[in-house]
Order: sequence, then C-alpha cells, then structure tokens
Amino acid sequence: MSSDQSHRADLQKDPARVSGMFDEVAAGYDRTNTILSVGNDRLWRVATTRALSPRPGQRILDLAAGTGTSSVAIARTGAEVVAADFSPGMIAEGQRRHAEVPGVSFVEADATDLPFEDEEFDAVTISFGLRNVQDADAGLREMLRVTKPGGRLVICEFSHPTSPAVASLYRFYNDHILPPIARLVSSNGDAYDYLNESIRAWPDQPTLAGRIRAAGWTDVAWRNLTLGVVALHRARKPVGDGGA
Ligand SMILES: C[S@@+](CC[C@H](N)C(=O)[O-])C[C@H]1O[C@@H](n2cnc3c(N)ncnc32)[C@H](O)[C@@H]1O
Repeated sequence: MSSDQSHRADLQKDPARVSGMFDEVAAGYDRTNTILSVGNDRLWRVATTRALSPRPGQRILDLAAGTGTSSVAIARTGAEVVAADFSPGMIAEGQRRHAEVPGVSFVEADATDLPFEDEEFDAVTISFGLRNVQDADAGLREMLRVTKPGGRLVICEFSHPTSPAVASLYRFYNDHILPPIARLVSSNGDAYDYLNESIRAWPDQPTLAGRIRAAGWTDVAWRNLTLGVVALHRARKPVGDGGA
C-alpha cells in the first residue's frame, strides 16, 4: 500500500463523510455485500454469532450494526440485542426491515462516545465496523467500558490473507473485479473504492490483537475465515485488577 492510499483511507474516515456514505448505500447495502463477497458474508455472520455464544437473557451490544443483519441473527438465540450505529440511514433501514423481530432495539450512537452506562453488556460485537471508526482505539476502550467484567468481545473484520498466493489473488479481485461490479450493483460505487483502500490500510491479525490488548482487553485470540480475507478476533474484559 502506498502512503498516499493510507492517507486517503484515513481522510475518508471523517465521521460525517463515513456516516453520509452509509446513509447513501443503506437501501442496497446487504444485497451488495452478498454479491461482492460471493455469499461468504452469511458464513462470516454464522461464525461471529458462534464465537459470541449468546445465551437467552444476555444483553449484547452489536456496534456499528448497520441495518441490523448481524443483530437479528444474535437475537434469534434469545439474547437481547442493542443494535447501535451512527448512520441514521442504516438505522432507519434496519428498523424498517426488522420492526417485527423481538429482542432487537436500534440506537443511534457513536462508537467512540457510547450513550450507555459502565458494564451494561454481557458481550460486545462489531462486524465490519471497527475499520470505519476514525479512532478505533478509542472505540475499543469504549467497548471495554460498557462490558461487564469477564464479558466477551468479538470483532469480525476484513483482514489480510496469510498465503502470498491468496493475498495476490485477493488484491487482484479488490483492484480489478470488485470496483466495476460495485458500480453496477450499488447506488454509490465510490463507496467501494473507500472499502478497498480501508482494507489495505487496516492492520494485520497480530497487530490488531496488540491494539485490542493495549485497550485493556485480555485473552486476545483470533482465527482466520476464508483464508484470512476476514479475521475473527475474540477477547475478554479482565475481572478485578486485571486478572482474567
Ligand atoms: C460496513 S458497515 C457494517 C454494518 C454491519 N455491522 C454489518 O456487518 O453488515 C459499517 C457500519 O459502521 C458504522 N460506523 C462507522 N463508524 C462508526 C462510529 N464511529 N460509530 C458508530 N457506527 C459507525 C457505519 O455507519 C456502518 O453502518
């Protein structure tokens, strides 16, 4: 990645621009995802819900929840899910689509300044959202604050394939195949140039694990999905004075 691209990805994380961009793509967001990921998005969501292992009666925060697709899957287990996002367009689309689903409530909230009390949630999860948060480290600290001691964190995010052959195929797909398809199927094809750049600028699996630890989480581990195109990071909030 050139430093120009990294700089552009950072500039485009301006919260007003990111929120506006998601407002624009909200209506077709989930369909575009499924097309561009060749259906893998469904597998990634199943893996995320399994890693979270929600139980009936637990209170779960699904942060940067977008249209609530992941929130609905979590609520099916009987947990109570708060789907929080700072894009009014994504929230409105989620409410329109999932109004009848029990156990899910939508809240407009910024990941770096959450409108929740300390230690309100049994678990916090964020899917394809942390990469978009302008200050991801502040987001990780806010997630820690609102989680109960011993509570879980699950982050599902695009990452970096570990095999050089897969990495170059993936790069070819992102550079040459994804942009024209995105222009065809999305209301804002440019948003997917940002997607490509932000994925390249995003830290690899061990670096992200280090940042999660630095924010105060413990027992940090990850596993790759789809050969590392996506990584699922897990962690726990320490109990007491930093003990696990
Ligand atoms: C790629 S979408 C992911 C949506 C959903 N989690 C999913 O898996 O489909 C990223 C979401 O992050 C939200 N987002 C980005 N920065 C945010 C922030 N600082 N606070 C809250 N939401 C944010 C955007 O509004 C958008 O809905």
